[in-house]
Amino acid sequence: MNYTVMIPAAGSGKRMGAGQNKLFLEIGGLPILYHTVSVFLEDPHCEEIIIAVKPEEQTVIKEMLARSDKGKIITFVKGGGERQNSVAACIETYEGNGIVLVHDAARPFLDSSVIRKLVSTANEKGAAIAAVRAKDTIKLAANNVVQQTLDRENLWLVQTPQAFRYELLKRASDAAVREGFLGTDESMLVERIGYSVQIVEGSYDNVKMTTQEDLAIGEVLLERRK
Ligand code: CTP
Ligand code: MG
Repeated sequence: MNYTVMIPAAGSGKRMGAGQNKLFLEIGGLPILYHTVSVFLEDPHCEEIIIAVKPEEQTVIKEMLARSDKGKIITFVKGGGERQNSVAACIETYEGNGIVLVHDAARPFLDSSVIRKLVSTANEKGAAIAAVRAKDTIKLAANNVVQQTLDRENLWLVQTPQAFRYELLKRASDAAVREGFLGTDESMLVERIGYSVQIVEGSYDNVKMTTQEDLAIGEVLLERRK
């Protein structure tokens, strides 16, 4: 089953503290963004890639991705001030009516088996997100005082990709814009219009490169994949 992927890549990577968009930092000698996009360039089921970038970074990103030209359509759109705005720009540009995936550019270690499961679940149910089970005990606190210990059986750490029937994602995104709601993932937007979102068990390898320690983990993960 085919799909389109939307990749927000217009952040600045403040928590990485590299003084530049963290997506240009290298793992195994290649930029993080290159690894992420390659997963989709190499997936025959991925029909189109829509990337949200900062206008001033578009040329250098185009050149970076041209190194791995697989003849696939890559559409560039102008990212926004927040991640959700960057994804909204991708949603506006898409012209089809199929299954769309949203995937953070900062997650370079995505397995195609997870993509398969997400696409088929979203096709069947409308919305599906990748997540892994929490390994630690998680507590809810107020001013550093524990209020409640949450039942780990029901806790999931949510990642991207998140997969949707396009019309559902568009409806959820439009509602968020209309009501001035800003979420931290697309699932939240779909949840708040009253739609059920399915969890697909993903992989602990699918880490988001956020701080310096993640780069070291990334080097290990890449080495293990070789
Ligand atoms: N992103 C985006 N547009 C923004 C902010 C973020 O497209 N205005 C993208 C990032 O490039 C990244 C993904 O959203 O691929 C997930 O965001 P995050 O990991 O938070 O990256 P940054 O926002 O760049 O990092 P930080 O929050 O540390 O500044
Ligand atoms: Mg951010």
